[in-house]
Amino acid sequence: MDVQRPPSSSLQEADTPATVAIRPLLLKPQWMNGLSERLLVSHYENNYGGALRRLNAIRARLAALDWARTPGFEINGLKREELIAAGSVILHEIYFDSLGGHGNNPPTGNAQPPAGLAEALERDFGSVMAWRAEFTAMAKALAGGSGWAILAWSERLRRLVNHWAADHAHGLPGATPILALDMYEHAYHLDFGARAVAYVDQAMANLNWERIGARYRLAIGEGAGGDELFLPFGAPAQKEARISAEELKTALENDNDHRPVLLDLCLPRDLPRRRDMLAGASMHAPAALPRWIEELPRGRPIVVYCICGFQVSGTAVTELRQRGYDARALVGGITAWHAIGGTTVPLDTSTYEEAP
Ligand SMILES: [Fe+2]
Repeated sequence: MDVQRPPSSSLQEADTPATVAIRPLLLKPQWMNGLSERLLVSHYENNYGGALRRLNAIRARLAALDWARTPGFEINGLKREELIAAGSVILHEIYFDSLGGHGNNPPTGNAQPPAGLAEALERDFGSVMAWRAEFTAMAKALAGGSGWAILAWSERLRRLVNHWAADHAHGLPGATPILALDMYEHAYHLDFGARAVAYVDQAMANLNWERIGARYRLAIGEGAGGDELFLPFGAPAQKEARISAEELKTALENDNDHRPVLLDLCLPRDLPRRRDMLAGASMHAPAALPRWIEELPRGRPIVVYCICGFQVSGTAVTELRQRGYDARALVGGITAWHAIGGTTVPLDTSTYEEAP
């Protein structure tokens, strides 16, 4: 196994030296254990997405800078903001990846660290319970303030450490975060008001230890062991059957024969969760796919999206590709599209099929 491979390599295909690509939500925001969809999606789209958009804007500004002629105060400001935005992007990705259930199932609140990580926590803290007591106390001590509670692997100290971070740019040098708990008010206020302590307990009941364990194995050089852990459940496994939000944005700027056809698929039960759609998309019920599949143009790419890019778009893309269409699923769905600042129009359900 290639130990240098990042756990999310299959989803970083849209990254370029100049642009950092959005990561999809791996948790199902409507099925979390005591954390609302409204809170999680707002956090993902506005705070994580906001940091990502800021980072890319700063990097574009830096790329165009005349280093010899730019005053020091301007360089200072941009480099400071770049570090803060990059730290925010990375810590938010670790935070969201660390939450969620198994496959299609919601978190139970009873998940435990996998064997290798459990042994390391016992070695370094005495027991998993002792680690948990320290980590949650450290997070709760940030109530009323802000920052991050982080579990990290320190190569120099040869152990896992719980460390506090005052802001997105604060960390233990050389240590690799394994788990990050967001203690900024935006992470809990919508659901918990000022009760940060209740939020910490609820977040701990939503941990996805499989992914945290994969990050630990990567940090100690054992490889992550399975990219599928870092793909939204039900998304197509083949890279050519997926399209990132950034790639779609570029493709939609084409006003020619290669401009993708947009299909918005939504389960009937999920319609109340929807407010908007991509301009030019037509909305359909996934179960009605056999009724209109043959009407799709064969010569143009087809992009299928759903709310978060799980199995609704994944299943349809598999079906379309089996029938010979050049279909791709939007990674992260319309939620990722929102997070990169993609524009939308009000929801139009006039093409949506009634149940047969
Ligand atoms: Fe946050």
